[in-house]
Amino acid sequence: MSPGKPKFYLTTPIYYTNGLPHIGHTYTTVVADTIRRYKRMRGYEVVMTTGTDEHGVNVERAAQKAGIPESAFVAKMAAEWRSLWDELGLTADEFVRTTDLHHVRTVQWLFRLCRENGYVYKGQYTGQYCIYDNAFVNDAKPGDDCPDCGRPTETITEENYFFKLSAFQKPLLDFYKKNPDFIQPESRRNEIVSFVEGGLKDLSITRTTVRWGIPVPGEEQHVFYVWFDALTAYLSAVGGPEFERRGMWPADLHLVGKDIIRFHTVYWPAFLMAAMQPVPKQVWAHGWFLMDAAKMSKSKGNVVLPRPIANRLGMDALRYFLLREVVFGQDGNFSYDALVTRYNSDLANGLGNLASRTAALVEKNFGGKIPKATERKPQDESLAKEVQSAIGDVLENYENLSFARALETIWGVIASADKYLTSEQPWALGNSEPEQARKAAVLWTTAELLRIVTVLGHPVLPASTEKVWALLGQTGSPAAVELDGLRWGQLAPGKQLGKAQALFPRVDKDEAVERIEAMANEELNPAPAAQSAKPAVGASPAGAAAAPQAAPEKIGIEDFAKVEMRVGQIKTAERIVGADKLLKLTVDIGTEIRQICAGIAQYYEPEKLIGRKVAVVVNLAPRKLRGVESNGMIIAAAVGPDGRPVLAGFPDEDVEIGSRLR
Ligand code: MSP
Repeated sequence: MSPGKPKFYLTTPIYYTNGLPHIGHTYTTVVADTIRRYKRMRGYEVVMTTGTDEHGVNVERAAQKAGIPESAFVAKMAAEWRSLWDELGLTADEFVRTTDLHHVRTVQWLFRLCRENGYVYKGQYTGQYCIYDNAFVNDAKPGDDCPDCGRPTETITEENYFFKLSAFQKPLLDFYKKNPDFIQPESRRNEIVSFVEGGLKDLSITRTTVRWGIPVPGEEQHVFYVWFDALTAYLSAVGGPEFERRGMWPADLHLVGKDIIRFHTVYWPAFLMAAMQPVPKQVWAHGWFLMDAAKMSKSKGNVVLPRPIANRLGMDALRYFLLREVVFGQDGNFSYDALVTRYNSDLANGLGNLASRTAALVEKNFGGKIPKATERKPQDESLAKEVQSAIGDVLENYENLSFARALETIWGVIASADKYLTSEQPWALGNSEPEQARKAAVLWTTAELLRIVTVLGHPVLPASTEKVWALLGQTGSPAAVELDGLRWGQLAPGKQLGKAQALFPRVDKDEAVERIEAMANEELNPAPAAQSAKPAVGASPAGAAAAPQAAPEKIGIEDFAKVEMRVGQIKTAERIVGADKLLKLTVDIGTEIRQICAGIAQYYEPEKLIGRKVAVVVNLAPRKLRGVESNGMIIAAAVGPDGRPVLAGFPDEDVEIGSRLR
């Protein structure tokens, strides 16, 4: 720790490695990254931790399915998580893996302390067990089937270590009372307090039926079970048993989704109290991003991925949307339409337009040098006051994690600047001395407002505010500005503006959404040869270039056989409102009628398609295109430079519907 600086330690959850990050995980990490940047600008020494939760039965199974050892499986997944965060500019200071040796040591150390202090005992755990999957099924009752394989579960008893959670009812309630801000938001606090008031049962913290986990020292048949292992990662990341040396523990803030608040506010402080170690200061639970009102999952086909959005619109656009669209703490709906609408209105027309307009006016009237304001009219004064008071509001909102309100305030200031320019009309002023003076005052005022907006917006829009900063001719980075010293009036005249660069080019909504969806589909269902050819996130928001293609690889017949194609017949076809290129079709594939979307609307009249026989990929995972479920894919040739679709068909013979293509 640097002497003299207050410290701030914050964490995201450590993510499961049996899947890859979607927008929900990205949300937590974006929030953490924003706080990390904001706190640094307020003079804190900040450490942010993220990582991967790599043990347990799900990983055992996934590794088995992939035909590789667990350690290789998790190493690959952790590398993918880490590199995606890097690619998205979400770089934590610490990345902890639960298979790291220092984490293993920390878990064993914490367990030893809990045991020495009398809070751990051996007991019998009874639960419903699936003998086919070799796993206990949480929350199942006798007679229930396994939710994974659907076969009956059996009641099994095994010897486990238990943690005496029941002993912590009173200490926890006292702790919540003494630290009313520990659980945020307020509604979650009430929920947890009543849960604890209802009584706490002891907790089984080891398993003998799981193999892939951290062993209990000396009793290797026991491995730590999920939460005792996972939560401890926050401590491992900043020194483990030697945390005092690093000076970061206890955590100032654990950011979590609402689904895991109980583990963080009941189990975790209880484990630490039992071990007589410092307890974190605050746990903040945010809501979920929903897609069509449902939690995202790959099997539902409603997963939203961050990379395609970052590729088409820039990562700042995604950050802005996630933080602006929903009140932090509440659930929100994700929609591509809303995302692109906000991009165009708030970023392209709002901040982007103000920056380019200001720069163009300064360029034209003052040769690109920020003018000196020698007069101050009441309207200049009142704008200055508004901005000065916005600084205080924005900082307060950031401090309370009210990101939507902070951004609303900043964008209110941008709107005032637009109004100010419209009413002052600097472009209509001539070259007489008083008119020159007026122009100078208006443009200095606008540039000063832009400077302040840039600094205040930096934690949320790190990449684009760097560009505005350079455009304003400022040296260094807005990240280096101390927020507490930010005041109206600090913009020095005479600075030469930097080169203009595109900030947020306006996009065509349909084109952008279709492109993002196409990239997402490609990432979720990669063609075998393109598996390793994910498009990298473009440095520029316009970096919408097509995915780089991997050198074509040969595939075996067994790979081809995985794709099930059949002859289908189109039964109905209609256009989709708001999607110029898509048609919604129902297709008879012999065994059933499927709804399938096809990107052929610009080349095929829906009415003329009815009755037509087409080639259909029938075993593609269902996905949503512009909010419409598509369960399969119609095969078409992509012809010419713009890839005009031409449907594959069977003109020579009347083939039977449902016949397989080989
Ligand atoms: N491994 C545990 C956490 C252990 S922390 C010591 C875990 N992992 S997770 O990968 O399933 O989820 C991590 C976080 O992502 C959770 O906070 C969860 O709420 C969040 N999200 C997953 N889907 C989400 C949305 N659709 N929306 C917002 N966040 C959601 O739980």
